[in-house]
Formats: sequence, structure tokens, C-alpha cells
Amino acid sequence: MKSSAEEIKIIEQVLNHLDDDSTDQQADLIQIPTTEYTSPDRLEEEIAILFRRFPLIVGHVSSLPSPGDFLTHNDTGVPILVTRDKEGAIQAFLNVCRHRGARLEGRACGKANTFSCPYHGWTYDLTGRLRGLRKAEHFGDFDKGDYGLVKLPAFERFGLIWVRPSPIEPHESTDDPLDIDAWLAPMAEQLASLSLDSHVVYKTWTLERNMNWHIALEGFQEQYHFCTAHKHTACSAYLDTQGVYLDQYPHVRHAVPIASIGKLRDQPVDEWSYRRQFMTQNYLFPCNFLQVMTDHVYVHTITPIAADRCIFSCLMLIPETPTNPKAEQYWQANYDVVRRVFEEDFQIGEGIQAGLASGANDFFTIGRTENGIQLARKALIDALEGRLTAS
Ligand code: FES
Ligand SMILES: [Fe+2]
Repeated sequence: MKSSAEEIKIIEQVLNHLDDDSTDQQADLIQIPTTEYTSPDRLEEEIAILFRRFPLIVGHVSSLPSPGDFLTHNDTGVPILVTRDKEGAIQAFLNVCRHRGARLEGRACGKANTFSCPYHGWTYDLTGRLRGLRKAEHFGDFDKGDYGLVKLPAFERFGLIWVRPSPIEPHESTDDPLDIDAWLAPMAEQLASLSLDSHVVYKTWTLERNMNWHIALEGFQEQYHFCTAHKHTACSAYLDTQGVYLDQYPHVRHAVPIASIGKLRDQPVDEWSYRRQFMTQNYLFPCNFLQVMTDHVYVHTITPIAADRCIFSCLMLIPETPTNPKAEQYWQANYDVVRRVFEEDFQIGEGIQAGLASGANDFFTIGRTENGIQLARKALIDALEGRLTAS
């Protein structure tokens, strides 16, 4: 796969760092008050803004390949129903009946032409319209048009499905309540190059862990910990603390070179393959990662449940469905390793959370090479203080 100009620059930057014995660094260290990892008030504010006002990834297009396919999503605390309508468009709604609020669709995914509420049987179509209600005459003069499911902004881009978990407000244009293309623009070239729309989901998994969601997030935003926390797993594959971080505000592209990258010096630049020489941890504000490996991709979504508990959910995307035992074994082995590596992170994360109440730290110190945490934090604070919006 041909490298982009951005990727050539990243490779050159790594080779320069190796020549100069330097690393990609921020100007200074920063401190994060530890109360941010424990405060229910802080979390409430984060949920109201970060997990309501910004688009989050809720799935891969292969989960909704044809009209009538649907999925539900509850990790943000908002019950969401996503459908592909008869015209092939993605639609999202609050998964809440407009009669007396019952959860409309209880299954995780499936195929349907209509959704019938389990409580009194009100029925909605794939575009959220109320199509029928039993004993309609009991409701007298009643306009079904006023009782459609509440719509959420939803988008299909780069093989992934994004939903903003808060309804379109009266002051927003219903046609274009959120400019998803502008939102993803800083990463669009890279996202397009991955061809995720033609990938398939090999595995999905969801974990609930006892740590603040930021702790889970921060584990993917620096590589300072690779050769300690992952001493026996990921460490040897990568150059120690030698990453390049591109501030693609509010997102971050974090390129982690594999150990053999130095050999590119002997190859002509137009033959350089970025993809073969890097793992890329792309932070997509506010809570997603696209972790791009040399031949497959993980999509992470990290959502809070409480100040000390979060959900980590992951999609493992591979280029095509394995068709023979060797391919199956290969992907299974990759899956097994990644589960082991993430488990190393999560056990440390739970230890951090458990130690917060000890009072040992009033703040955590983020070093100059923990760039990803520093860059993402700027966007997080901007959003919480109203300087960053997605509309
Ligand atoms: S709550 Fe859904 S039909 Fe009554
Ligand atoms: Fe890690």
C-alpha cells in the first residue's frame, strides 16, 4: 500500500529521531488533578457534554448491510436504535416508545420491517414513523405524525457508523445537524486509505472494568508504558518510546514504529510502506480509537458507567472472512495476543483506580513524551469549557 505524504513525513521524523537520539515531545509536563478520576460531579458534566454532544462510533457497516437490518446500543446510557431503511440510509432513534416509554427493541441486532412495542404494541417503521396502534379510537383525535420515534443524528462514514446520542434540537437544521465530514476531516485521508467498509468483523467483545473511563483511554495515548507493562508481550515489537504524534485536533494520530523500521533507510522513499512499519493508535475524540495494525484494525469505544467504572468495547476488523484453517488460526492468534495485552493495561488501570482513594497523589504527572494524553486533554477541556463543539 502506497504511503501518503503525511506518512512519509512520519517515517522521516522517526528516522531523524533515531539519528539524533531524540523523541517526539511536548514542551512541558502537565498535571491532572486526581479528583477528575473520582468525582461524580465531574463525570456528570463529562457525560452531558462529551457523551451527548459528539458523534460516537456504534458499529461497523457490516452489522447493517441491507435494508431492515438494525442494532441497538446502550453503552452511553442512552438507549439507541440504529436501522438501515428501505432506501439504504442509516437512521438512529431513541429506542423508547412514544406511548409510555417502554424499550422498543430489546435485541442487540436483527432484521425487521417494523418495531412493535412489547408493552401495548405501538408499531414503528424503519424511519421511526408510528405506523399503527391498537384500538386507535381510544385515543380520539390523535395525529400519528406527532408520535414518531425521536431521531438522533446518524452517519455512515469510512465503513463505520456514528451516532450523536442526543436528539436534534429545534434550533438545529434537521437536514444537517452536525457536519460529520468537517468533524472527521483532519483524519479523513487516513480513514479512507484503510478501506474499512470492505472489512469484516472477526470478533467483538465488551468488558466492564473498575476504572474511570479516562484511565482506560490514557492507556492508548502513550507508549511510555510498552516496555514495562507489556514487557513480555508488545514491548519487543516496537521501538521503545519512539512514537510520532500528529495533533489532528480534536483527534490525535499516534504512529508507533515497529522495531525494524530502520531498514527503510536502505529503500527508496517511494517504496516505503508506512502500514507495514507502524501500529497507529488513532484517537477519535471523545472516546474512540482506531488501532491500525499492519494488516487489521481494532475499533475501541470507551464509555463511563460511574466515576470508577467503564465499558470497553472493541471490534476486530479484518480484510476478509477467513476461508481456511490457517487464516482462522492466524487471526485467532492475533486476537489472543491483543486480549492479553489489553488485559495487562486494564489490570494496571484497576490498580490505579483502587489506589486513588489512598491520597498518595493529588495529581498525576504526564511527561513530555506522553504526548497523546496531553493533546487529547486539550480537546477534552475545550469541549467541557464550550470552546469545542461538533456542530
Ligand atoms: S409503551 Fe409502547 S405501546 Fe405502550
Ligand atoms: Fe498498553
